[in-house]
Amino acid sequence: MQPVSATAFSEERDGFEPPRAATSDELPSFVDAFGQAAARVGRAGFHGVEIHGAHGYLLSQFLSATMNTRADGWGGDLEGRARLIRAVARRVREELPRPAIVGVRLSPEDYGLAKGLDVDETIEVAARLADDGVDYVHLSLWDGSRNTAKHPAEHAVSMLRRALPSEVRIVAAGGVWTPEDAASLLARGADIVAVGRAAILDRDWPEHAREPGFTPIRGPLSPEELGARAVSPRFVEYLRRFKGIVA
Ligand SMILES: Cc1cc2nc3c(=O)[nH]c(=O)nc-3n(C[C@H](O)[C@H](O)[C@H](O)COP(=O)(O)O)c2cc1C
Repeated sequence: MQPVSATAFSEERDGFEPPRAATSDELPSFVDAFGQAAARVGRAGFHGVEIHGAHGYLLSQFLSATMNTRADGWGGDLEGRARLIRAVARRVREELPRPAIVGVRLSPEDYGLAKGLDVDETIEVAARLADDGVDYVHLSLWDGSRNTAKHPAEHAVSMLRRALPSEVRIVAAGGVWTPEDAASLLARGADIVAVGRAAILDRDWPEHAREPGFTPIRGPLSPEELGARAVSPRFVEYLRRFKGIVA
């Protein structure tokens, strides 16, 4: 199947498959598909789902001012660009009522394939998603020590904390290698800190990080060293896409 997006676009990179623009008639079926997926997850016994609205995936493309130039009510102003993710969040919430957990992952600003994002808009979208019934917003920061590019004196987590009702939780991910990194995100208002690379390189990171004098294992490590740390050969190949992990 040809991939679909908000608007057709092309990128100069290996393996890129140009998407077509979704028709306005088919978008409600996308919302249904998210809802059906969430219902399956619930039936399978999971406690909740995270809707992926970050990283330039479909919902992030719709949120984007540059990747979504539609004029049919599913694009244009922020209300139009947020329509799909909000409809998905409401439908998923319907399928998974509390106490099931529904979260949304968002990229606050442009990074990698996430393009056309504005932190003030992201915060606004997060607040609307809270109205739609999500339990938490997960900010994908990549480097949690940095303030936003748009407002150099402001951190995205602090901005989000001010914008969300206190019962809506914040998860923050990006560049947590030490307990101090985690504590600084919690101090800005995060409720939960997610750990990616540090936990790939040290699967017992939570245990090790609480030991006095802890020093994180930072890459790059050789494939043999990664293998000895329970990273499978196939995952080692995947990790080569990321800088500084595989020597
Ligand atoms: C090997 C690898 C695979 C990843 N895959 C995904 C993914 O499928 N979906 C996603 O939302 N984030 C993915 N990420 C991003 C992480 O969820 C996380 O936001 C990012 O690595 C920053 O956190 P960290 O500094 O603790 O690694 C991936 C990261 C790595 C290193």
